[in-house]
Amino acid sequence: MSHAEDKGSRRDFLYVATASTGAVALGAAVWPLVDQMNASADVQALASKEVDISNIEVGTQLTVKWLGKPVFFRHRTDEEIEASRNTPLEDLKDPTSQNNTKWESDASDVNRALDEDGKWLVMIGVCTHLGCIPLGGASGDFGGWFCPCHGSHYDTAGRIRKGPAPLNLLVPDAAFLSDTVIKLG
Ligand code: FES
Repeated sequence: MSHAEDKGSRRDFLYVATASTGAVALGAAVWPLVDQMNASADVQALASKEVDISNIEVGTQLTVKWLGKPVFFRHRTDEEIEASRNTPLEDLKDPTSQNNTKWESDASDVNRALDEDGKWLVMIGVCTHLGCIPLGGASGDFGGWFCPCHGSHYDTAGRIRKGPAPLNLLVPDAAFLSDTVIKLG
């Protein structure tokens, strides 16, 4: 499986697409949710993708297209981890982790980060309001992601904190294959 990386000037909003798609998105754009419906359940169940994270510097994000959707790989700073872990759960709008591997767990940072130390956050980059792609780069009022379509603010764990989006950004099935490779699906 191959993918190409684009190290553009906006290091924090890199977009990686497979050669077959070649699409590049900058800023907010409506993501065609219908794309997901084009693939059969069997195809989706079999789909997986390996992503090399070795070049994602601390404080930056890589975006990869997977199953027709953008997936954010954020290498968090200590400050981002601390801000998230110090947030009381009662301050959260959506109290569930929205982590596909940890159903029914709460939205604590440890239930959303991929590793125990919380350095890596992998999320579907689709706003849970109406499907725009939120801006990264420590954006918004909570230093995480901001969706300018209707003003949804997500924190440094991708949890919705303000605006019309009802849910935290979704955390997909993901696991480390090695120190530098994460497998989606
Ligand atoms: S689609 Fe993100 S705030 Fe409406």
